Amino acid sequence: MITRKSRYEINLMKSAGSIVAEVHNTLKELIMPGVSTYELDEIAEKIILKNKAIPAFKGYHGYPATICASINEKVVHGIPSKETFLEEGDIISIDVGAVYKGMVGDSALTHPVGHITGELKQLLEVTNRALFDAIEKMVAGNRLYETVSAAIEDRANLHGYGIVKQYGGHGVGKAMHEDPFLYNFRTGDPGPELKTGMVIAIEPMFNLGTGAVHVLEDNWTVVTDDGRPSAHFEHTVHVSNDGPEILTL
Ligand code: MF3
Ligand code: CO
Repeated sequence: MITRKSRYEINLMKSAGSIVAEVHNTLKELIMPGVSTYELDEIAEKIILKNKAIPAFKGYHGYPATICASINEKVVHGIPSKETFLEEGDIISIDVGAVYKGMVGDSALTHPVGHITGELKQLLEVTNRALFDAIEKMVAGNRLYETVSAAIEDRANLHGYGIVKQYGGHGVGKAMHEDPFLYNFRTGDPGPELKTGMVIAIEPMFNLGTGAVHVLEDNWTVVTDDGRPSAHFEHTVHVSNDGPEILTL
């Protein structure tokens, strides 16, 4: 069942979303060679707690940290570690969720570490662009898969990027993962009709190589099969009366 949020709930989700945005803005300045992903995680948790919110990921199916920190060929769900240090030329996806007064905000973005190649720069720009193409389609009356999913697929295809198919976006609200699941490609099914009050976390994951991925021994980290880099961008988006409204700014 796809829930529709009240104005009150949307306002709480905006608060959760602005806390998540504060984490992203702070971490962005700290991303540089030599920093460990564990340090980034500690700072993220402090910011969330200071804002009277709760990290949404910690403890979720046993996930051990506040952020997911996924470097290069790691797609999503990379676990922060004292032994993992950022290096010049890396790209790192930071994914953060916060619960404020019972409502979740969820967003991710991929940063360059120092100078990166033109090929990687383009991968980041295009994946982010796909997210915004998709956000534009978050309009009441649209069918989710034939508009939002299709926009993501089209952007990847323009550049020949691999689309990760086993993971995708999701409804979000009281729970981090609610209906509907959002494919990052066309399925043939037009998908559910968008209605005002629906909120969906949109999260394209594009690979320089093929879309094939697998999960590491830690049972969390998703990596590309071919070892080539992957980018990930995410916002929590509300279908409002006035069109798409990003709650994680
Ligand atoms: N943004 C991710 C998602 O929507 C984060 C979940 S990580 C987890 O699936 F550890 F909490 F599972
Ligand atoms: Co998400």
